[in-house]
Amino acid sequence: MQALVYNGPHQKALEDRPKPVTQAPTDAIVRITKTTICGTDLHILKGDVATCAPGTILGHEGVGVIDAVGAGVTRFKPGDRVLISCISACGRCEYCRKGMYSHCTTGGWILGNRIDGTQAEYVRIPHADTSLYPIPEGADEEALVMLSDILPTGFECGVLNGKVEVGGSVAIVGAGPIGLAALLTAQFYSPSQIIVIDLDDNRLAVSLRFGATATVNSTDGGAAEQVMKLTGGRGVDTAIEAVGIPATFELCQDIVAAGGTIANVGVHGVKVDLHLERLWSHNVTITTRLVDTVSIPMLLKTLQVGRIDAKQLITHRFKLAEILQAYETFSTAADTKALKVIIEADQRSAGGTPPTAGA
Ligand SMILES: NC(=O)c1ccc[n+]([C@@H]2O[C@H](COP(=O)([O-])OP(=O)(O)OC[C@H]3O[C@@H](n4cnc5c(N)ncnc54)[C@H](O)[C@@H]3O)[C@@H](O)[C@H]2O)c1
Ligand SMILES: [Zn+2]
Ligand SMILES: [Zn+2]
Repeated sequence: MQALVYNGPHQKALEDRPKPVTQAPTDAIVRITKTTICGTDLHILKGDVATCAPGTILGHEGVGVIDAVGAGVTRFKPGDRVLISCISACGRCEYCRKGMYSHCTTGGWILGNRIDGTQAEYVRIPHADTSLYPIPEGADEEALVMLSDILPTGFECGVLNGKVEVGGSVAIVGAGPIGLAALLTAQFYSPSQIIVIDLDDNRLAVSLRFGATATVNSTDGGAAEQVMKLTGGRGVDTAIEAVGIPATFELCQDIVAAGGTIANVGVHGVKVDLHLERLWSHNVTITTRLVDTVSIPMLLKTLQVGRIDAKQLITHRFKLAEILQAYETFSTAADTKALKVIIEADQRSAGGTPPTAGA
């Protein structure tokens, strides 16, 4: 089968790999129909993610069809259409029982990191019963790809942790797919203000279309001042950090109102200063979280009834054979205006068998 393989920093290739087989009774093999590329895949390719060994197939998002299941899988059978969570969960360990799937002792974020991922024709999914979700009849599968990672991340790490409230004020720093996912899901709670901050005017224009009440281009360094002006000098109740660099976390500290929350979503590679000399008296809360994807079933329902339009996040489509071009487009987003790219995995060059019917 064809697969996009990480071969060490700055090296990737579309390679021919053997089709995966079940290794444990709780595994399923999924034939990928649609997958995508995440900013985190670019982090891996820069060499930032030490857990991802050269030779690993990338990708932790996607939808597909069950091709085979181990003897211990009870919820799925070959032919079932499934949504893949970026987080694998056993459902039984202490962390899973607390809903912290991200820290599952035999799972967590392993797909396209510690084990082969979804940017391939087939993928092996461990703990299949508790890491896959059935796709409802008639669902738009492209939109569902946004549920593997980015919508739960924006919602859980940004909106839920940030305690977004009816009538409250929110600032989202970073209007990439994650920031935009936070923007879409923050609107469940009808905040009175959602201010989106980025360096890229195209992404700010997209933010206004997606429901931002104001946008700020922070290129000139005056973003904090503008946010204070927009909030009558108070700052925001919720500041969501969706970039992952010191400057944007510091901006969140400058714009959080007394009693407010800074919800960090970004993956930070270097240390960031915490300004307790200023914030000690401000009654603020700072949260961090690795996405658990516990909100997938709820978000799936909101998608199904049209409460959020996840498809708006998709800007480009490619075949699996064109995935190198898809990476090029995704990694030069300022020029290409890319948000999420859909990659259709077809089987023409696969040598793979069609899915078995029935079970
Ligand atoms: N916590 C989690 O579980 C989790 C899960 C997935 C992704 N992430 C992280 O979330 C972050 C956002 O992901 P993404 O895919 O949207 O990333 P992205 O790179 O596509 O978007 C980041 C945005 O930030 C903007 N930006 C960069 N520097 C800025 C600055 N100084 N001021 C304002 N805006 C600036 C960029 O223009 C871009 O639009 C990343 O760090 C990613 O690794 C975290
Ligand atoms: Zn991701
Ligand atoms: Zn577990």
